[in-house]
Amino acid sequence: MLVIGYLLGSIPSGVWIGKIFYGKDVRQFGSGNMGTTNTFRVLGKKAGIIVLLMDMFKGTLAACLPALFHSNANVLLIGLAAIIGHVFPIFAGFKGGKAVATSVGVLLIYNPLFFGISWAIFLITLYLTSMVSVASMLGFTLTAIISLFFGDWILIIVAFALTIFVFIRHWGNIERIKNGTESMVPFGLGYSR
Ligand code: G3P
Repeated sequence: MLVIGYLLGSIPSGVWIGKIFYGKDVRQFGSGNMGTTNTFRVLGKKAGIIVLLMDMFKGTLAACLPALFHSNANVLLIGLAAIIGHVFPIFAGFKGGKAVATSVGVLLIYNPLFFGISWAIFLITLYLTSMVSVASMLGFTLTAIISLFFGDWILIIVAFALTIFVFIRHWGNIERIKNGTESMVPFGLGYSR
């Protein structure tokens, strides 16, 4: 299940959708990331939504593996294999995304309440700042903090580990936020300011 989870996570949705339907490798444009945000940026809304759903769904599917195999393996740990696949994909030279969408897809199965909470934090922050990177980092941070009060120990450990990891993957974004060059999405208060 760990191997299947990793292989599912390794499906580089942004790269494949870009190359097959638009003749473009999203990693050569915008932020250079192959995730949802850069796909929106480079290929537009339709491709962005498809990549968001695919990147989330591969995490969701991986998290369903224990149920499909009638196993009591931990959903979060199998999901983690998909998240690692998304970040270090075997099908895309081990250069993958920033762990955001696939983690959220895993959370949907592990704990739907936390899934809702993390989406709410993400959307509110995105509305206030218009920066997906800030919304992603704050979403992970606050979800990890909330898990201290309402989560089980596996969720707490994974949530904090992922938060640290997400910050590391967003290092370039943090630099751009500091020097005022981080790109904004055309949504919310930050963009209209
Ligand atoms: O999920 C990644 C997002 O937080 C930032 O993406 O392309 O702006 O670096 P990007």
